[in-house]
Amino acid sequence: MTDHSSAQPSSRNLIIAIDGPAGAGKSTIASRLARKLGYVNLESGAMYRALALKAIERDISLDDEAALVKLAEGSRIKLEPTIGGNRTLLDKQDVSSRIRERDVTEAASRVSVHPKVREWMVEHQRAMGAGGGVVMEGRDIGTKVFPDADLKIFLDADPVVREQRRMQQQRIRGEVAADVAAELRARDHRDRTRAISPLVPAADAVVIDSTSMTEDEVLQKIEELLQRKLV
Ligand code: DC
Repeated sequence: MTDHSSAQPSSRNLIIAIDGPAGAGKSTIASRLARKLGYVNLESGAMYRALALKAIERDISLDDEAALVKLAEGSRIKLEPTIGGNRTLLDKQDVSSRIRERDVTEAASRVSVHPKVREWMVEHQRAMGAGGGVVMEGRDIGTKVFPDADLKIFLDADPVVREQRRMQQQRIRGEVAADVAAELRARDHRDRTRAISPLVPAADAVVIDSTSMTEDEVLQKIEELLQRKLV
């Protein structure tokens, strides 16, 4: 892994980690920030989702860690940034939309509790981001994947606001209104309490509470933090 902690960072090769719970606005902020900086936006959650989808399709138990690792090892999961947004390829197939559906969302959270699955993911995520010039978002980017990231943001928001944002996203996608609140709470609980790499802010992360902030305000705040890093 590249050592990003020593030399003065240039604006071209930074690693920016954005972690936080579901519905805090990570994806939108990460992709807007990456676009502005000319960086690659890597959504680590999409990798857990892709593996979960394959497990569903192959009827593999989401509790069977060994089988899930074997499945991961035999898979090609690729995050492909495009001008129109990120695409997720699973064994060369575009699964970008399918992995956002409810069954995969729930399964991804369950798949992600297994330490050996996480090890596989972390190794691949490090390889993808090692060259820098990336905004990587997820749950453990600042704590585990890139503990030496140049800038770590922990983006949070009040649970009620996060639920509302998720419902709005569902409406836009034309999905049937689901019990978003209960699902989000269950996922939050699982992500925050799992034994390995639970969702917590890194000690040196800047926590941004976006509850009453607009996207533009969050983005501006991150850009200010970035500027300070560069001077
Ligand atoms: O960010 P997301 O909603 O697409 O993530 C889907 C699931 O994957 C989420 O419930 C937790 C897990 N995840 C994780 O454990 N670590 C990451 N770095 C990213 C996602």
